[in-house]
Amino acid sequence: MKPSLTVVLVVFGMMTTPYSLSAAEGDVGRGQRVYGACAACHSLEPNRNMTGPSLAELWNRTAGGLASFRRYSPALKSSRIIWEDRTLDEWLKNPQQFIPGNQMTFPGLKNEQQRADLVAFLKVATQPGHPLSTQGQSRGGMGMMGGGEAPNLKKIDPKIEVSAITLCQDTYRVTTADGNTREFWERNLRFKTDSSDDGPAPGRPAILRAGMMGDRAAVIFALPNEISAFIAHKC
Ligand code: HEC
Repeated sequence: MKPSLTVVLVVFGMMTTPYSLSAAEGDVGRGQRVYGACAACHSLEPNRNMTGPSLAELWNRTAGGLASFRRYSPALKSSRIIWEDRTLDEWLKNPQQFIPGNQMTFPGLKNEQQRADLVAFLKVATQPGHPLSTQGQSRGGMGMMGGGEAPNLKKIDPKIEVSAITLCQDTYRVTTADGNTREFWERNLRFKTDSSDDGPAPGRPAILRAGMMGDRAAVIFALPNEISAFIAHKC
């Protein structure tokens, strides 16, 4: 970090401290670990939206105001809240109490110190040009299990590139580009799409494990019209 930025951050921190509800001083390093609870749903890269909106440049943003995120609830959009230290602390303490009817499935962080740490981290990491805001850095690291972060599927490994899918009665057989074939009960295979920069190239779907049991998977296509064309009915 450049010395000048450090000075700015320190001065900014001093200015905002009196308005913080939290008696606790936030620690950026500890806050980064707390952020692990958010990373499966939020990125710090501008306009990289997942289950939740990107948190890049969050300070002083109007709640529900990121134009590229299309899934805001009416509750969040009409709340007229501006995100800063105090409003974020309230939100993270108990989202449903602060903005009733919002659609963030997160119970809240009851621990005041953890919230102070998280807000301190977010304040730094959501700034434009912060190293964590570049591609890949802000990802959860929780793997693909349990609904966590998915890898970029443009540069696809032959182990997960699907070359053929057949359906025979209740069984899908999925062949990957490395020559392996796996069988799935039809209810255990999901078909998804990802049209974003992270999604697969058209005609080159990818298979990812889904859920904890190892018997389920998802095949991700670029667009929905590819799906039935790709599946051959054959025994
Ligand atoms: C299970 C997914 C999920 C988790 C975990 C989650 N969020 Fe969210 N978050 C969402 C969704 C979805 C929304 C949009 C809610 C709505 O529109 O009602 C949201 C909205 C927000 C907003 C409002 C952003 C805006 O543009 O107005 C903030 C700030 C936020 N989350 C921060 C966090 C933080 C910090 C954490 C970690 C403590 C976290 N979220 C955990 C899914 C999640």
